[in-house]
Amino acid sequence: HLMDVLSKSRLLPILTIQKREEVENLSKLADVLAKEGLPILEITLRTPFGLEALDYLRDRGLYVGAGTIRTLEHAKEAVARGASFLVSPAYSNDIALFAREHNIPYLPGVLTPQEVELALSRGLSILKFFPAEPFQGSKVLAMYAEVMPEARFLPTGGINEKNLAAYCSLPNVIACGGSWLLKGSYETICQNIRKAKAIVNSLAHG
Ligand code: 3PG
Repeated sequence: HLMDVLSKSRLLPILTIQKREEVENLSKLADVLAKEGLPILEITLRTPFGLEALDYLRDRGLYVGAGTIRTLEHAKEAVARGASFLVSPAYSNDIALFAREHNIPYLPGVLTPQEVELALSRGLSILKFFPAEPFQGSKVLAMYAEVMPEARFLPTGGINEKNLAAYCSLPNVIACGGSWLLKGSYETICQNIRKAKAIVNSLAHG
């Protein structure tokens, strides 16, 4: 299901919540995402408000996942609060086993061929390529498309409207994730989403 959602949206907005007020304002953000036809969101657990946000967004019609999952405890908490998918900066065996048991998609962070092969061997099909920009992700992923073509990636880390096309035009990039989509006023967020959608829609993708 996540594969379908991401291959349709081609974008994954990522949100880290710094203040409690932002949790209360999430209904407005949820409306904006729904209105712009991008009803998917990753909430990071980088701050304690992440778990509250998952509670808040439950049953509001958005497809919400939890990110920056670095411990099994956080994975359990996130699933208990309704997260539909789990994203980590690195591969965790404990989290992978837990996610499989609960039938929840798990996207581990990978960079090197070794890490990609490990994640694939554990049956994981969508991998977060992180941190993408500092590691010249679009160049690396173009090479991975040739040597390990079945791997599907969600690059994140430093993606913006300037480099989005270089990633999204690659055959092995299912979608691009980033916080840039959600920066600024609600009006700016709408514009960010529209611009990003125009970019991904302009690319032929197989
Ligand atoms: C992530 O959680 O994947 C990254 O922090 C997103 O990176 P960005 O803030 O550079 O988009």
